[in-house]
Amino acid sequence: MRPSSPRMTVIYNACMKASRSLIRDFGEIEKLQVSTKGPGDFVTASDKRTEKIIIEELLKAHPDYGILGEEIGEINKENKDHRYIIDPIDGTFNFLHGIPHFAISVGYEEKGEIVCGIIFDPIKNEIFFAEKGMGAFFNSSRIRVTKKSKLLDCALATGGPKSNSPKKNKIFEEYTNLSKKIDAPIRKFGSASLGLAYVAAGRFDGYWEWELNYWDVAAGIVLIKEAGGYVDFVEPDEKMINKRNVIATNSLIHQELKDYLTK
Ligand code: IPD
Ligand code: CA
Ligand code: CA
Repeated sequence: MRPSSPRMTVIYNACMKASRSLIRDFGEIEKLQVSTKGPGDFVTASDKRTEKIIIEELLKAHPDYGILGEEIGEINKENKDHRYIIDPIDGTFNFLHGIPHFAISVGYEEKGEIVCGIIFDPIKNEIFFAEKGMGAFFNSSRIRVTKKSKLLDCALATGGPKSNSPKKNKIFEEYTNLSKKIDAPIRKFGSASLGLAYVAAGRFDGYWEWELNYWDVAAGIVLIKEAGGYVDFVEPDEKMINKRNVIATNSLIHQELKDYLTK
């Protein structure tokens, strides 16, 4: 099954078109890995190319809609009611190293609320999608979050930070402390959007990460909600207005996990 409503079809076609070029690019990475120059510039170009294809397709259908893309920034800024939020490659570090775990993530926001979105892992050919009121899906199946209520039994995942942020040490410290405290396995796979999609699909019971950008989480928000889960944005401090601290869970473990993370 594929997303079939008109608004989802537009996003789906954009993701599929972009993924063909992205898969080709990923095939080049292995060769570049062993070259003296390395794949750095190529990956940057691929990121931009992928986003350009997505944007062209979306604007073909809705030329006046707003766009927030990680690479390009904003287009049609004045349109605040209809806006696409795009991360062309979420998991760039993996992509750069030839690790097949990254995704295209596109969310569609209406009057400030994300109402549908797709997270597509092109290498595993796994598509996660959801539309408000219609449920969440993985490939052709309906998905739901898990029903586990004890943190000890849960598969939790987290991520970041990708670069030297002042909070880096603090985050790693929290991560280590949390693993010790709850004695539950915590995974780090390197793609926030797939982390959220996996919670929606019941592969993970919970995902959290601090200081994410809107494009990392936009499509994931509607997926988690439509899969019956809970997405919480823990109070951003004033200096990181556009950053989001996200905790997404099956809702049964939410308070306990949040307490561990924030107290
Ligand atoms: C990053 C990935 C990573 C997460 C970082 C994100 P990018 O996005 O989602 O898993 O830990 O916080 O910035 O840079 O690969 O698009
Ligand atoms: Ca990202
Ligand atoms: Ca990205």
